[in-house]
Amino acid sequence: MKALVLSGGAGTRLRPITHTSAKQLVPVANKPVLFYGLEAIADAGITDVGIVVGDTAEEIREAVGDGSRFGVKITYIPQEAPRGLAHAVLISRDFLGDEDFVMYLGDNFIVGGITGLVDGFREARPDAQILLTQVPDPTSFGVAELDGNGRVVALEEKPAVPKSDLALVGVYLFTPAVHEAVRAIEPSWRGELEITHAIQWLIDQKHDVHSTTISGYWKDTGNVTDMLEVNRAVLETVEPCEDGTVDEASEIIGRVRIEAGARVVRSRIVGPAIIGADTVISDAYVGPYTSVSERCRIEDSEIEYSIVLRDASIAGVRRVEASLIGRGVEVTPAPRNPAAHRLVLGDHSKVQISS
Ligand code: TTP
Repeated sequence: MKALVLSGGAGTRLRPITHTSAKQLVPVANKPVLFYGLEAIADAGITDVGIVVGDTAEEIREAVGDGSRFGVKITYIPQEAPRGLAHAVLISRDFLGDEDFVMYLGDNFIVGGITGLVDGFREARPDAQILLTQVPDPTSFGVAELDGNGRVVALEEKPAVPKSDLALVGVYLFTPAVHEAVRAIEPSWRGELEITHAIQWLIDQKHDVHSTTISGYWKDTGNVTDMLEVNRAVLETVEPCEDGTVDEASEIIGRVRIEAGARVVRSRIVGPAIIGADTVISDAYVGPYTSVSERCRIEDSEIEYSIVLRDASIAGVRRVEASLIGRGVEVTPAPRNPAAHRLVLGDHSKVQISS
């Protein structure tokens, strides 16, 4: 069995972060979200992994390399444009050969991994298997309609009137039957080859499509709100450590990871939180569910429930909350007079100012 990990795409919902970097590399508890997926694949005993890459191919290659650190062998598959999930399968035909495979969306996060799912598929071996989860508002997802035996009867992409509350999760299991399906379908109104259409084609051709409903935690980290939420959930489980230095005037409360070379000076950190290598926190408060990457500076400021990417600095500011701060960003207070906001924001930035 092989794995196909999708790490191309446009990432429009995570702009401006995705103007300069791949969304699959945005860190969750200071580790790229893609790495959790690769670890789950390796844990399921799959070692032959294809990664579909787009504009951010170089960055993904640099981060993942040949896969040996995960115990897998990586083949990179360039996709010239994000033409849809089924298009990614189409262009991966040579890599996939005639083997069964798991398709994993590189920005998805599934607690508990995929080992049980992969084992179940190997045993029952339907033509395809999808993963579903109940969501409160199914209108922004692919939605499945099931018969009494859990067999999939129909799939709909972002339906206005959903037939169930079961949304597709970003992990799919396929036999080579899917290759005929992705060749048979036409692009949708948004110009993409949709995987839901390919699966619907399999159903229409009387292929056996099973589903498993998971109740555990999963998220598509495609937007900031979900990203912060996944970060919160993962921080609950990180191993606390104090590899950096904490001075006597500082207070560390709860589950906090302070990585090598980090310095905490006259500050209060309330976990769960993670302070990256060589970051300096001084005269500051870092509150629960905050991940600060490496080489950052947080000085005379308060921050909580946020993700700060590497080399960013926040000085003299209170209080930053529910925020995603990009690489090398500087946040500083304005001079007292005039009481004006001075902003240098990248394209598609979003700012909320409390005034
Ligand atoms: P999406 O999040 O559905 O699409 P996107 O990356 O274009 O993001 P946005 O909607 O914010 O613009 O993609 C899911 C995953 O699949 C993600 O890791 C990107 C990847 N992908 C590809 O590799 N190729 C593709 O053609 C598409 C559409 C997505």
